[in-house]
Amino acid sequence: MPDNRMYQTNDKSPLQIFVRAKKKINDIYGEIEEYVLETTTFINALHADAEIVDKAERELFESYVFKVAAIREVLQRDHMKVAFFGRTSNGKSSVINAMLREKILPSGIGHTTNCFCQVEGSDGGEAYLMKEGSDEKLNVVNIKQLANALCQEKLSESSLVRIFWPRERCSLLRDDVVFVDSPGVDVSANLDDWIDNHCLNADVFVLVLNAESTMTRAEKQFFHTVSQKLSKPNIFILNNRWDASANEPEFQESSTLWVATCAIDSFQQVKSQHTERCIDFLTKELKVSNEKEAAERVFFVSARETLQARIEESKGNPPHLGAIADGFQIRYFEFQDFERKFEECISQSAVKTKFQQHSSRGKSVSGDMRSMLDNIYERITIFRNLKQDQKNLLTERIQGTETQMMQVTREMKMKIHNMVEEVEEKVSKALNE
Ligand code: GTP
Ligand code: MG
Repeated sequence: MPDNRMYQTNDKSPLQIFVRAKKKINDIYGEIEEYVLETTTFINALHADAEIVDKAERELFESYVFKVAAIREVLQRDHMKVAFFGRTSNGKSSVINAMLREKILPSGIGHTTNCFCQVEGSDGGEAYLMKEGSDEKLNVVNIKQLANALCQEKLSESSLVRIFWPRERCSLLRDDVVFVDSPGVDVSANLDDWIDNHCLNADVFVLVLNAESTMTRAEKQFFHTVSQKLSKPNIFILNNRWDASANEPEFQESSTLWVATCAIDSFQQVKSQHTERCIDFLTKELKVSNEKEAAERVFFVSARETLQARIEESKGNPPHLGAIADGFQIRYFEFQDFERKFEECISQSAVKTKFQQHSSRGKSVSGDMRSMLDNIYERITIFRNLKQDQKNLLTERIQGTETQMMQVTREMKMKIHNMVEEVEEKVSKALNE
C-alpha cells in the first residue's frame, strides 16, 4: 500500500494541530495530577500534626484529585468528530469510504444506511462493532459481514452502531477523527432527536448533495435546525456524483468547435448555479459563514471515483485507473482539496471547543489550590511567629531568673563571709579572755 504508507508518515497534516495539542494538554494534566496528589498527601500530614488545616479543607483537596482524574479520562477520549448528512443515495457512505480509502461502510442503491454508524479507530489491529447500550464486541472479519450485521440488526434509525477499524489502516483514524454516517434526512421524522443525540458535539458537518439535482427542503430544514441548536456550526457542502455531469450528452465533447464551446459553457453554468446556491445557503440562510469562507466550503466531487482511485493506488496502480468519466483529475484534486480544508477546519475547531474548556478548568483548579495553599502558608507563618514570640519570652524570663539567682548567690556569699568573720572575731575574743 504505497500511498497509504506515505500519507501515514505525513506529520505535516493539519490534523497534527489537534494531535499535538492533545498530547500537550494530556502531559500538563499529568503534571497537575502529580502535583495535586503530592499536595494532598502534604495537607493530610499537616492535619495530623496540628490544627492548621481543617476537615473541610482536607476534603476539598481530595475532591481536586477526583476532578483532575475525571478531566484526564475525558481528555483521553476526546476526538475530532465529523457528521455526514444528506438525502438517501446522495453518497454519504461513499464519501466516508473514499476518505477512509477503503470500502468500510455499506453503500448501494436505495435506502442503505438504516441507523447511525460511527467509524472510529481501534488499537491492536482489531475490527469490531458495538451496538448502542452494549459493551459486547462483535467481530467483523470483512465488509460483507459488516453490511450483513448492520442489515440484520433491527435497529431504530436514531440508534448508533460504533464500528471500530484498525487505526493503522487509515491516517484519519490514527489521528483521532471519528466519522458519523447517517440515514437519509428524507427518511426520518425524528430529525430533532438525531441532532440532540448525535450532533451536539460534532466539530464539522458535511452536507452531501447530489450534483445532478438541487438541494431539497428536507436537507435545508435539517441544517436550519442544526444551526439553531449550535452556534455557527462548521458546514462543508459536497456536490457529489459530479462525474455524472461529465457523462451528460449536452456536456460531452463534440467534433465541432462551436458545440464543444457551448457544452463547456453550460457545464460551467450548472457549476456556478450550484455554487451560488450553496454559498447563499451558508451565508444568507444559515448565516454560518461569510462569502469568502463559504466559497472555501463548497466542492464538486465524485466519491465513488475517488474511492476507486484510492483502491487502485493501494494496489500500486495509478489512480486514474479508478476514473469513471472525463475530467477525473480535476475531480480527484477537488476531493483532496476538500480533505485538506476539512482537516484544517476540524482540528482547529476541535482544539478550540474541546481543549479550551479543559484548559480553563485546569486553570481554575490550580488557581483555587494556589489560593488555599497561600492561606495555609499564611496560617503557618502566623503560627511560627507565635511560637517564636513565646520562645523569646521564655528566654527573657530565664535570663532574668539567672541574673536574680546570681545576685542572690552573691548576697548569700557576702552574708556567709560576714558571718564567718563575725564568728572568728567572737572566737578569738573568747580565747583572749
Ligand atoms: P443511504 O445510506 O441510503 O442514505 O445512501 P448514501 O447517501 O449513503 O449513498 P451511498 O454511498 O450508499 O451511494 C448510493 C449509490 O450511489 C451507490 O451505488 C454508490 O456507488 C453511488 N455513488 C456514490 N457516490 C457516487 C459518485 O460520486 N458517482 C457515482 N456515479 N455514483 C456514486
Ligand atoms: Mg449510506
